This record gives sequence, C-alpha cells and structure tokens, in this order.
Amino acid sequence: MDYELISKIKDNIDIVEFISKYIPLVKKGKNYFGLCPFHSDNNPSLSVSREKQIYKCFVCGEAGNVFNFIEKYENVSYKEAIKIVGNSVGILTTEIKIENNKNQVYYDMYDLANKFYQNNLFSNLGTEARDYLEKRKLDFDTIKKFKIGLSLNNNDSLYNLLLKKGYSLEQINNSGLVRDNHDIYINRIIFPLNNVNGLINGFSGRIYHGENLNKYLNTSETPIFKKGENIYNYFNAKEETRRKKYVILMEGFMAVIRASTIGVSNCIATMGTSLTKDQIGLIKRLTNTVYLCLDGDNAGVNATINNGKLLLDNNLIVKVIPLTDNLDPDDYIIKYGKEKFLSLIDNPMNYEDFKIRRMKLGVNFNSSEELASYVNNVLEEISLVNDEIKKEIMLKNLAKETNVWYNTLEKKLNELLSKKQISKNNLVLPVKKKKDKYVKTLEFIIYYMLIKKEVITLVENSHVYFPIDDYRKLSLEIINYYNKYGVINISNFLDYMENVQELKPILKEIISLDLDDNVSNQTILDYLKVINDYNITLEIKRLEQMIMNEVDPIEQAKISNKIRNLKMGSENND
Ligand code: UTP
Ligand code: MN
Repeated sequence: MDYELISKIKDNIDIVEFISKYIPLVKKGKNYFGLCPFHSDNNPSLSVSREKQIYKCFVCGEAGNVFNFIEKYENVSYKEAIKIVGNSVGILTTEIKIENNKNQVYYDMYDLANKFYQNNLFSNLGTEARDYLEKRKLDFDTIKKFKIGLSLNNNDSLYNLLLKKGYSLEQINNSGLVRDNHDIYINRIIFPLNNVNGLINGFSGRIYHGENLNKYLNTSETPIFKKGENIYNYFNAKEETRRKKYVILMEGFMAVIRASTIGVSNCIATMGTSLTKDQIGLIKRLTNTVYLCLDGDNAGVNATINNGKLLLDNNLIVKVIPLTDNLDPDDYIIKYGKEKFLSLIDNPMNYEDFKIRRMKLGVNFNSSEELASYVNNVLEEISLVNDEIKKEIMLKNLAKETNVWYNTLEKKLNELLSKKQISKNNLVLPVKKKKDKYVKTLEFIIYYMLIKKEVITLVENSHVYFPIDDYRKLSLEIINYYNKYGVINISNFLDYMENVQELKPILKEIISLDLDDNVSNQTILDYLKVINDYNITLEIKRLEQMIMNEVDPIEQAKISNKIRNLKMGSENND
C-alpha cells in the first residue's frame, strides 16, 4: 500500500465536502448528518465527522474514511476507490500497482502469444479459419476488438517462439501454453481471456473444422489464471455496465461477441459453468443488477434458475431475458435481428415471474390436483418476495390465471408467511442474541483507543488480556500502529487495516458505535478492571475444574491456594 500517495490525496480532501457531493448533509453540533445511502433510511442516521475525517451510520453500522465511502457507494474495490478520489482532486494514481510484478513474465508471454495467434489468423495459413469466422458473421473489426487469433500446428509453434524470445524452460512449462515441448493449442481459433485489469491471462481455443475434440479448450490453472475467478469480457464491459447500471450475464464467448456487434457492450460470460463466489464478488463491484440472458434450451433455463438464486442470495437484483426456440443469444440475434433483441433487453422479466412461468409448463389446468399443486408452488414462490407491491401483483395474476378467488389466495399466502416467520424466528434468535457484557466492554475500550492515544497507553500498561481473539488482535494492531506512527488517527488506521481484511467488520462495527467521545482515564481503568475480573473468574473456574480431577491431596491444596490468591487479588484491586 502506498501510504505516501494515500496521504497526499487525503491532504487535499475534506470528507464533509466530499460526501456532500453525493448526499446533502446538515450540521448538527460538531458533526454533519444525512440520509444513509447504505440502508433505506428515513431519518438521517449517517454522521460525518470533519475532525476525524470519517463517516458512520448508527443504524446499519457502515463506517469508514473517504475511500471506504466510495468503495461502498460506487461498488468498487478499495484500490479503485483511491483512484476515483485521487482523480477527483487531480492526483494521478498510476503509481498504484494493481498487482505485484512477480507474474509479469507470464503476462508478457500471453501478450506475445496473443500477437502471434492474431498474426497467424491473417497469414496465408489462416484462410480456412478466416472463412469459418466469416461464415459465423464475425467481421474484421470484431475480430480485432476481441483479439481473436489462430493457433497452427507444430511446424509453426508458439513453443519455438517462446524459446527464441529467451524464456526459460521452467517459465514456458508453467505458462499453461506448452506441455512436453508441444503447444497446447493446435489448430484452434483463439479467444483471449482477460483478468479484471484487462491483461490477457488465458486462452480458449475453438475447433473450426469439425474435429472430434472438445469444442473449446481452456487454459489450465497457472500463476495468473484460476478457474472460476475469471469472467469473459469483464474488463471491457465495465464502463458500459456502470453507465447502464446493469450487466447482462451470458453463457458463452459467441453470445457476448455477437451482442457487442449490435452495440450491446455490457455483456459478460461465465464460460459455461455455474457462477462462483468469486465471480459474484466481481459482478458486485460493477453493479447491483444482473440480467440473465442464458441459452434458451433446457440447460439454459435451469442455469437461469440456479444462477438467479445465487445472485439473489448475494443481494443482487435479478432480471431475466428469456430466449425462445432453444436459441443462444448469438443465434437469436442472427435469426431475429438487432431491434428484436434490444426490445427484449428493454423489457426484462422479473426473476420470480420467470420461475413461475416455468412451473406452469405442462400443468393441466383441467385437472384440479395439478392446478392446486401449481397454485401452492406459486404461492411458495410469492412468499419469498420482499416487495409488498410486487407480491400483490403476483397474487392478482395468479388469481386471474387460475380462477381461484383472490381472498383465498391471500389467506393461504398469509398462512405460509406466518409459518415462515415462526421458523425464521427460531433460526435467528439464538444467533442474534444480545451482545454480552464483556464484548461490549471490549468494544468500548477499543473505541476509545481509536480516538485517544492516552487510552492506548493505559491499555498497554495494564497488561490486561483481551479474552476474545478478534478484539485482542485488533487492539494489538492499534498498539502497533501507534508505536509505529506515534499518533492515532481513525481515518489513516482504516487504510492501514486494508491488509488485515478479516478484522474490518468488527473495526467498522466499533467505529460506528454512538458513544460520547469524552471519556476519563478512570472510566477506562474501570472498563479494564471489568475485563480483568472476568479473566480471573475464568481462571478460577478452570482451577476448580482441576481440583475435581486431582487425586493427590497435596496438589489439591496447592491449587486451592492459587484460587484463594486469585480471589483476594481481584478484591484488593477494588
Ligand atoms: P456453448 O456450447 O453454448 O458454446 O458453450 P457457444 O458459446 O455457443 O459457442 P459456439 O457458438 O458453439 O461456437 C458455452 C460456453 O461454455 C464454454 C465456453 O466458454 C462456451 O462459450 N465451453 C463450452 C467450454 O469451455 N468448453 C466446451 O467444450 C464447450
Ligand atoms: Mn453458439
């Protein structure tokens, strides 16, 4: 992390002014208040502190510095947030290294390989492949735009080129481009894959004259390519996705490429598999809305249902562009044309309606059993919807289509919902139980460590052991930070903690506490004593357990002596 650059940017920013550009803020006392953009807020609960250069929401617990604000607000990574904030004050952030260069050699090899493959396509050995691409209606501009290439056979191997360029055998063998001195990609049309920063990190090669081989051959795992972490066209679709505020998720390369030929450039593809957690994380950085435009065949419908659920579970909004006649987007656009496809995108279907439509397939409405089971399935689906208006519309549609009385359906739905509520309460209650007194005490202490350096010293000198791992680790981070920089500053500490991601949730939670910033040293000492007494109680319990398991009376006496001392010690401290 480039702290020098970060502090240069921060020196030029006042968080109150900066956030004011996004949300109106009103001064109240020392701080500024506005409607929190991170939960649905009717009562201004976002507070911004000029003094501390942080924001926090007392209701949803979101908190951080100016970079964290943009990270969350614009759905971007921390590093991208630094760029955005930096650019807003005219500080160029090209200095921010996105990735360390130990893998640079592989990126170089892939770049070289791609140039080599692109060259092949336009050599006289590429005639057949060019004919194939032409048959598939991919014109020159599209081929260039997606950097499509061609691999030939062993007489013109990439392997020889890599050797000639001076790459070591080890590097070549680890690159995923060569195996046993032979090229991996032989006689295939080459589609380059890019990482999130637009660097080529893999290939997929397609057969093009009907060989009896896997249709596409993908790069194996390499230092720069991990299966399930890549999304086809992610980098290129970024800008348009942010502009349109939704992304279109497709299955394959050809679909994405075809859509781009008709000017739809916010498309990405999973490359055939179902969505992974990493891929969903990447999508969330771009947008909160996903249009699923998968193949129109049965497999595509199933994938739509499954991927839709995964996305919903990750709090994304899901819409569906359903295709007919078993077509994939590529064939669909070729068959029905640009306008027809654009009108589909303009009228996406709700995910729930798509699911219901599928439930309806093959249901015999003349059979009362089939009809009843259909109604129940749909009600089940409606019960999952959060939006009250949407729920009502869906219920009305169901009444109309099945001729079942609306009130009956509504009653049935409410029964379902109250049953769900009960099981939900049973599930949630034990997890959401009130924070225990000691956790709260630790949070208090850490809160004040973050705003008063005297408190850090008090904690350090007290040698009180924090009995919960994460809180102990966090307090040690604060102490280390203070010893290193000689000051404590929440805003800068947040940047420092970017390297310790696992502690960020509790850090945010503590920062967002609504506490009075004035605290006396005595209060801190009292809090520390609460923790110390708690540790002693735990230790006494442990020793009492030991006595019970001890058979030797002399040992027993020793332990009970220890217990007595501990008890006296904790009283004397009062
Ligand atoms: P499809 O079979 O639908 O291919 O697989 P496609 O994209 O329509 O390509 P064309 O039109 O036949 O040329 C969808 C995606 O699944 C992955 C690829 O990413 C492909 O784009 N796939 C498919 C593979 O990785 N390997 C395969 O053998 C087949
Ligand atoms: Mn296809």
